[in-house]
Amino acid sequence: IRNIAVLTSGGDAPGMNAAIRAVVRACSFYKLECTGIFRGYQGLIEADFEPLDARSVRNIINKGGTFLKSTRSKEFQTKEGRKKAFENLKANNVDALIVIGGDGTFTGAQLFSKEFGFPTVGIPATIDNDINGTDYTLGYDTALNTVVEAIDKIRDTASSHNRLFLVEVMGRDAGDIALNSGIGAGAEEILIPEENLGVERLLDSLRKSKKSGKTSSIIVVAEGDKSGKNIFELASYIEENMDEYEVRVSVLGHIQRGGAPSCFDRVLASKLGVGAVEALMKNKSEIMLGVHHQKVVHVDLITAIKGDAKIDKELRRVADITSV
Ligand code: F6P
Repeated sequence: IRNIAVLTSGGDAPGMNAAIRAVVRACSFYKLECTGIFRGYQGLIEADFEPLDARSVRNIINKGGTFLKSTRSKEFQTKEGRKKAFENLKANNVDALIVIGGDGTFTGAQLFSKEFGFPTVGIPATIDNDINGTDYTLGYDTALNTVVEAIDKIRDTASSHNRLFLVEVMGRDAGDIALNSGIGAGAEEILIPEENLGVERLLDSLRKSKKSGKTSSIIVVAEGDKSGKNIFELASYIEENMDEYEVRVSVLGHIQRGGAPSCFDRVLASKLGVGAVEALMKNKSEIMLGVHHQKVVHVDLITAIKGDAKIDKELRRVADITSV
């Protein structure tokens, strides 16, 4: 292998830049060429390439987002799109590819690698932490800290006004952000997509805590919550069914995807970036670099994208005990 290309795809995540930097610097260390692909798979199809050297990635370890830009390419989901991508890589003398992204990115990478026998490895980056086979994905730790900081601020105003706040956090299918930030920020209730405990149980719990002397509360709601009501309907329902309870909604939205990566994410990105280059040098393909018990591991892409969303029962237990 002489020339490795790198791209970022799907929803951006803090730590993507640190991962690109590690890939480029590892290539430089091993005297390999490195090609940056802009705008994810779309840029791969349109040959939006640029050679990268160790100096191209200076001053980015601390930056959120991705300087290579990111897209969700519909064209790459077609066989013709992937063929164009393959031809562009060949024409530019690229012989291996590193993709940085989440499950959509890996699904594309797996198909592409299988169809053309092109060496491809993935680095998991998504604030959702919903990739199988790795304890952490890039961006998740930073997003958690962003959420906890935001909820701490909401708590100040909630307690000053004796109000109940519903705070919506990201996670269409995965409750990891909600569950962990909910515990970290001391939420009274946490609603996640993996379980639907019902709106009536929520009302009961709020009534109980009011009786016990609680004057304000925070409920963390994952965007993919399955209660059947959106967060605003949920707020109205609570107000209608609880006496003297003022409810407010705060949707945190995309602030969760931005910001400087935490030290944890920078170190993880550096380990996985170096690991990805070294895996390709050992002729590995169709794998993702993950981390398990602090060690870098190789996971088949097909396993990585097996979405078996499970909740961490121990975390749920701790949340229930500490929120009384
Ligand atoms: O997958 C990351 C994520 O931030 C999800 O938590 C969220 O549901 C989604 O992306 C939002 O995506 P976008 O705003 O890019 O369409």
